Amino acid sequence: MSRKADRKDSLRLDKLLAREGLGTRSELGKAVRRGRVCVNGVIEKDPGCRVSAEDEILFDGKPVRQRTCVYYMLNKPAGVLSATEDSRERTVLDLLRDPSDEAQQVLRRGLFPVGRLDKDTEGLLLITDDGQLAHRLLAPGKHVDKTYYAVVTGRVTEEDIRAFAEGLTVDGDFTAMPAQLRPAAEADSTLAALIPENIQTEISPEITDSSQILVTIREGKYHQIKRMFASRQKEVLYLKRLSMGPLFLDPSLLPGQFRPLTGEEIDIIGGHPDARFFHSS
Ligand code: URA
Repeated sequence: MSRKADRKDSLRLDKLLAREGLGTRSELGKAVRRGRVCVNGVIEKDPGCRVSAEDEILFDGKPVRQRTCVYYMLNKPAGVLSATEDSRERTVLDLLRDPSDEAQQVLRRGLFPVGRLDKDTEGLLLITDDGQLAHRLLAPGKHVDKTYYAVVTGRVTEEDIRAFAEGLTVDGDFTAMPAQLRPAAEADSTLAALIPENIQTEISPEITDSSQILVTIREGKYHQIKRMFASRQKEVLYLKRLSMGPLFLDPSLLPGQFRPLTGEEIDIIGGHPDARFFHSS
């Protein structure tokens, strides 16, 4: 099979291997230089050689299945738009650049965030090029649970909990689906690991009365949680998404960091079956 080095969709060998979850660019660069990678039947020792989906690549003798779709988990920081591009502001896709790539290209064309978080909201954002999955997770009627950690003004009362559970009327505009409120102190260990420690102290000293709460909603309307709390005369001071359906934010990701989903995570969210990782071990 001949190499398609001049194809527009070609990319560096080390970058392709990293995209498939086989290690970091520098680890994979070393592996390539040590002769562990074959391209179209020939040992390739140049990590910068251009390869594409049509090339047959073996890593330690095992085929590297190039995935048809890619899936990343981003810990979205505040101050970044959940959009693919914007003429003035930084978007979440600007964060998915490979700093060791001179051209600073976004990791793959066609990526988009699955749903939106407000500019000031942090936390779990799935970024993919799998339109079908996005539809399955977001389409009205799918009702995927999304859990957030929120700091809100005032004391959240039993009455607030009941009102959220019954379905609040928001801005006289729509009736929200039943939503669950729980004190953040009751978070299980998985969620507790995702709750930032210093948020409470960073909130303005003028606000003396606030509550830390876990909110689970099933829809994703514009400013939904902020509007739900506003209808209970409370303001959301801080918001972070911790989970989406069965997918939880990786606690080791700092704001702004991302990683590919593992094969298991792709399975549990119903990602494309070809999108499994090849493991060299
Ligand atoms: N609800 C909001 O109000 N904002 C978000 O970013 C997500 C949910």
